[in-house]
Amino acid sequence: MNRLTGKTALITGAARGIGLAFAQAYVREGARVVLADLDVKSAEAAAQELGQNATALELDVARQASIDACLAEIQAELGGLDILINNAAVFDLAPITDVTRDSYDRLFAINVSGCLFMMQAAARQMIAQGNGGKIINMASQAGRRGEAAVTAYCATKAAVISLTQSAGLSLIPHGINVNAIAPGVVDGAHWDEVDARFAKYEKRPKGEKKRQVGTEVPYGRMGTADDLTGMAIFLATAEADYIVAQTYNVDGGNWMS
Ligand SMILES: NC(=O)c1ccc[n+]([C@@H]2O[C@H](COP(=O)([O-])OP(=O)(O)OC[C@H]3O[C@@H](n4cnc5c(N)ncnc54)[C@H](O)[C@@H]3O)[C@@H](O)[C@H]2O)c1
Repeated sequence: MNRLTGKTALITGAARGIGLAFAQAYVREGARVVLADLDVKSAEAAAQELGQNATALELDVARQASIDACLAEIQAELGGLDILINNAAVFDLAPITDVTRDSYDRLFAINVSGCLFMMQAAARQMIAQGNGGKIINMASQAGRRGEAAVTAYCATKAAVISLTQSAGLSLIPHGINVNAIAPGVVDGAHWDEVDARFAKYEKRPKGEKKRQVGTEVPYGRMGTADDLTGMAIFLATAEADYIVAQTYNVDGGNWMS
């Protein structure tokens, strides 16, 4: 407890799922947390439940003006930023023969450009503050290996791993650690949607894909958002100061690297 006391953290996509679990864990650890999401109503409701150390902001990571406004608001209201978790992302299911330009552009705008330009904005702020900082990107096992039905999403997560490496090397001279977490399959609203997409696409009963991916995990079940919070806290503490440009698998043993 209190491992993040005195720190201000911005978590994108924190209205639900993994981002929300990170916000809850960070508040428990004493951080002031900004839950930034396109779905600002849900983010506001979540922040209210978390109490005085949480606030919500509307953010579209795909729009530069929205990123700039978010960082300016944090600077004005909270005096700066110590931790960024780049968590917002969207998913789509399509093999190479079915990928549309609209889907590809949307996934890359949010998952890749969003990650890069959020890092840029946060890093500029952290460099100006002069106290270093921590940036944690959400990659995925999908970024480790392509999947037949998941062309563009897998490519976006491979790009997040690469961005983590370049930004990590570029920012460590400023005392800013950039690292990433690669989850495997994490139960929640996101995976309910993925399951429904697979059910339609592969003409299988709803719930079957989820059961399948769960039994395939060496640990014996799908992950939960709470399975990831330990790594998200650790990477934001001084204990992780010597960790630079890495992507950590937190996936019950699905991937080894
Ligand atoms: N759930 C999994 O199995 C899994 C596995 C590997 C990696 N991940 C990654 O973990 C992260 C969180 O996943 P999740 O399952 O909680 O997803 P989720 O879909 O439940 O939540 C994503 C959040 O991002 C927000 N968002 C979407 N577009 C946005 C935008 N343009 N700007 C700001 N916010 C936006 C959504 O409103 C939502 O609140 C993502 O980066 C995802 O790719 C998830």
